[in-house]
Amino acid sequence: MSEQDDRSERGGQRRGEAFFNDTGLWGFIHRSFTKSMGYTDDDLKKPVIGICNTFSELNKCHSHFRELTEYVKRGVWQAGGLPMEFPTISIGEPYVKPTTMLLRNLMAMDTEEMIKAHQIDGVVLIGGCDKTVPAQLMAAVSANIPAIVLTGGPMLNGKLNGRTLGACTDCYQFTLEHKAGNITDEQLTVAENAICRSDGHCMVMGTASTMAAIAEALGMALPGCAAIPAPDSRRRHMAELTGKQIVQLVHRDIRPRDIITPESIDNAIRVTMACAGSTNAIIHLVAIAGRLGYRLPLERFDEISATTPFIVNVRPSGKYQMEEFFEAGGVPSLMKEIEPLLHGGCLTVTGGTVTDNLQGVLVPDRELIYPLAAPIAPQGGIAVLRGNLSPNGALIKQTAVSPHLRKHTGRAVVFTSPADLNARIDDPDLDVDENSVLVLQNAGPKGAPAMPEIGQIPIPKKLLLRGVRDMVRISDARISGTSYGTLIVHVAPEAAIGGPLGLVRDGDLIELDIDGRKLELHVDEATLRERSAQWQAPPPAYDRGYGLLFLERVLQADEGCDFDFLLPPELRTTK
Ligand code: FES
Ligand code: MG
Repeated sequence: MSEQDDRSERGGQRRGEAFFNDTGLWGFIHRSFTKSMGYTDDDLKKPVIGICNTFSELNKCHSHFRELTEYVKRGVWQAGGLPMEFPTISIGEPYVKPTTMLLRNLMAMDTEEMIKAHQIDGVVLIGGCDKTVPAQLMAAVSANIPAIVLTGGPMLNGKLNGRTLGACTDCYQFTLEHKAGNITDEQLTVAENAICRSDGHCMVMGTASTMAAIAEALGMALPGCAAIPAPDSRRRHMAELTGKQIVQLVHRDIRPRDIITPESIDNAIRVTMACAGSTNAIIHLVAIAGRLGYRLPLERFDEISATTPFIVNVRPSGKYQMEEFFEAGGVPSLMKEIEPLLHGGCLTVTGGTVTDNLQGVLVPDRELIYPLAAPIAPQGGIAVLRGNLSPNGALIKQTAVSPHLRKHTGRAVVFTSPADLNARIDDPDLDVDENSVLVLQNAGPKGAPAMPEIGQIPIPKKLLLRGVRDMVRISDARISGTSYGTLIVHVAPEAAIGGPLGLVRDGDLIELDIDGRKLELHVDEATLRERSAQWQAPPPAYDRGYGLLFLERVLQADEGCDFDFLLPPELRTTK
């Protein structure tokens, strides 16, 4: 398939039509093999809708996708389409080691190649857990046949002793308090059973909820899709509607690149900032934009963050969870509130524009969605920091930062790798106090490898026991969207390719100034040059296979961590 597959190349026929109408040997085989599965000649005349079902028992967040797929199929049949389910790889955050980020690009490639290789007319992409929706959106842009996203929905709220629990914000808190000796083994087990009690993805505004909101804000999922809890019957209704709608998109030949544009990406960034969404969304949006041939600079996130108030009162930066956000109208109500800031003319999978979709939408609950004029915080969640420690940028989720650390200078305590961190962080002899700046090196895209979510560097146990709960922490790693604290992440370029982060030594002074957007290493130029001359790359983690491909071709965090060869040729130059 050419990059711009079009019907004129097939005499005006859809891909599926040409597949089944072929008059020779192949048409005979296509029809015969397909009818052997119980489909009739009438069925073969319908638009062929691929349904990408990423069900896996190795991905808890997708455990209900078999059922959800049946509702999508019901919608496709009702609208006169022929649904054909197919699998791709599925990646669940807690299951994939060393990190799902290693496999996001593999899933994007799998999805794109499955779409291109099969003569389907349209595709429904069912995703949920953190990396799956971005992988599918990247694939949708590259394959560019009519496509629609159905996300699996968040879990119901966890409940324990009258308290609402959220994965995984409270996972950290429970394990932290257990480590500090404040809760028993038995209490920890009770908490484990209570926190995740239904199908669905993490139910705070973590990466999965953020990416679901982004799919909707981009216009690639139907309005209201993101926040419906996974077990709620309305999620099944949404699945059926999505199945119906993909058939309309095929009839109208509306494709991802008609929908995902620099303007709709701006809308997605606005929504991310208004709900203090996950820092991971930045990497994914840069990667999605890259597939369009659009180099999305980190400054765009900062500009939009600075002009988008944080108004969605959902954890980890706010108080409530996705279940309450759904009751409060979800993403449509949020978009209604920030409508003056959006590009209203963007086309969406409804076939109408953002403005069309927002007609008549209400904002019913001001405890969940604050007014633009009286927000929770005047700016969005994410700030981009630059300085000699992060010449190509670093991120901080400023809404999750302790106020006393917004401007802070402290001495570095350096860990040279994730293994070094694990070995020494709780050492009683570690020379560290609450003013220290914890630095983790070699945890970036090529370093760790694959940039795991270990940027929430644990507080050293001896400080934890003294009541310290936050410190300035810096790494080239990522953090979970459910993390909190003064965590500077995505430092680019990373330590493992010789970035300045790798040149920091114990005792160096580091200055953080969030309002000034500054991250400075107070070491003179000559000393840094000397350290740089002596720097040696860490040994590569892989010497064969997909791991080696990843190490050789992955781009830096500020470039979206896509593989260079998956970008259009004009974007393939690294800085
Ligand atoms: Fe899948 Fe959190 S583990 S969304
Ligand atoms: Mg996560």
